[in-house]
Amino acid sequence: MCGIVGYLGKNEKKEILLDGLQELEYRGYDSAGIAVIEGKQLYNFKAVGKLENLKDKTKSYFSEGFGVSIGHTRWATHGKPTELNAHPHLGAYSYVVHNGIIENYQELKKELQSEGVNFLSQTDTETIVHIFEKYNRRENKTPFEAFKKTIERLKGAFATLLITESAPDAIFFAKNGSPMLIGFDGADVYFASSDTPIIGKAKEVYYLEDGEYGYAKTGEVKLFNKDGERTFSTKPLNTDKTSAQKEGYRFFMEKEIYEQSKVMSDTMMGRVKDSSITFDEVDASLLDGIKEIKICACGTSYHSALTASYLFERLAKIRCSVEIASEFRYKEPLLSDDMLFVTISQSGETADTLEALKMAKRAGLKSLSVCNVDNSSIVRESDTAILTRAGIEKGVASTKAFATQTMVLWMLSLYFAQIKDTIDQKKLQDEIDAMRHVPKALLVTDTLHNKLHRLSKRYLHGHGFFFIGRDIFYPLALEGALKLKEISYLHAEGYPAGEMKHGPIALADSELFTIALMPKTLHYDKIKSNVEELSARDATICAISPEPFELADDFIQTEYATHPMLEFFEMMVATQLLALEISVRLSNDVDMPRNLAKSVTVE
Ligand code: M6R
Repeated sequence: MCGIVGYLGKNEKKEILLDGLQELEYRGYDSAGIAVIEGKQLYNFKAVGKLENLKDKTKSYFSEGFGVSIGHTRWATHGKPTELNAHPHLGAYSYVVHNGIIENYQELKKELQSEGVNFLSQTDTETIVHIFEKYNRRENKTPFEAFKKTIERLKGAFATLLITESAPDAIFFAKNGSPMLIGFDGADVYFASSDTPIIGKAKEVYYLEDGEYGYAKTGEVKLFNKDGERTFSTKPLNTDKTSAQKEGYRFFMEKEIYEQSKVMSDTMMGRVKDSSITFDEVDASLLDGIKEIKICACGTSYHSALTASYLFERLAKIRCSVEIASEFRYKEPLLSDDMLFVTISQSGETADTLEALKMAKRAGLKSLSVCNVDNSSIVRESDTAILTRAGIEKGVASTKAFATQTMVLWMLSLYFAQIKDTIDQKKLQDEIDAMRHVPKALLVTDTLHNKLHRLSKRYLHGHGFFFIGRDIFYPLALEGALKLKEISYLHAEGYPAGEMKHGPIALADSELFTIALMPKTLHYDKIKSNVEELSARDATICAISPEPFELADDFIQTEYATHPMLEFFEMMVATQLLALEISVRLSNDVDMPRNLAKSVTVE
């Protein structure tokens, strides 16, 4: 996810910016850049890949005396990770960095292009600097008036910093929907998208509110909102970097659960259109000659693969089978060139998944990967790759990676359905309308979190958990159980609800905890009778459903929804929080559970 830093003062700016960007590395990025203005001198450096590359490029540059400076780490969304797409973006004499999405950038870009402005990048951000320069020099507005007018033209979420040769003593800033703060140390002013880059540098901080904008000069910050200029008070800056990285959450996993709603908008951006789904990275010819999809993955990624198998068959009408990569490798699988080979991986480095992909390629299959890390081994090895755009995931127990993988696979099944003409426009429209509600379904409310916190104390013992569900809620049950066992060390199994009576029901007693996923939009009556059978054997039932269920010992109420995937995502959040809260009560290490590694690069 992108990160912003800024500094105004007399100290060496390159070091301050690079240090600050280093502190933002934990968020993940694929390119970085800095820009400095000292009087009439403009300096700009950008590099793709790690910060080391940017450091290398700037090694013989040092700033001198007073100046203004901005820096950025970019996680590619609009356009590939290239130097041209990296921030800061240059107009004729100004630079801008930006986090978030300018929703109306295409309209703004067209307007500017019709006035003769040349765009160098594929980003939405570049429009900001060109509108500013249009108002400033071409329409003779002061730099501040031009900045204010620019901000008024932007729709969407953003946090942005702009520096310009027209006002070489100022940094212009604005925040709407994406985080931004201002740090103070005497006459020096710092900016950042989170605390960590300025800890140890600034002493006081002000956290900007949505709709605020203004400018900073030596020792002075002017702040405005829609009602005009406003006063503000600073507070002492926190000094603990790790806790700052967690942005107020107790654990990275908790932060990542809360982030899911926001990152999902990134996952959908540019892909979910008004009445169609597009993937610029996937050519329609990928499906030429394809009769079947084979998916290989491990762990949580295997669970999103299983979910996808229902969606590919149901929506795109393509036969789909899913295999655990470590099993696939040694089973002497029958592969034919009418199969599309799909791998799913958060890290893109999982050894078994990578080897399965290599086997499929040796057999001549077309390959596609769904991955969170650009340039990872699996991405490089695949013919086609779709990035999930979840941002870096630090918690060993995967959460937002699963959510975004599942979303990509849902979108992909619709994209394939469009190509194969297996879906009518009305049904497609219903699916797209439902997709737009996903970020809301993923929001964590205080009510839900508090409820799971309270409930968790009842589930710290017993002889095991069964997470049960049907259809796409079966893979979700598997994932709920995996989350719980990974971080609580309690025994948990995911099971297809209809299969319980074929054996596992023998375990049922009051010490068997059943987490029942009971969506109202999909096979409700079927799952209800499966749960009744367990209740009749005295199993303890925790039902997750919009529909009150009288046999439930505990009940987590979800929203009545119009689409099973909306129920899926809401129930997913509930199971993640349940695992988290049980783990916390058991005093386990939530982010680094025993015996586990984030990336399993050995067989
Ligand atoms: O990076 P990958 O998605 O390929 O990783 C696969 C599994 O190792 C991973 O999902 C693992 O199961 C997680 N710890 C789940 O929380």
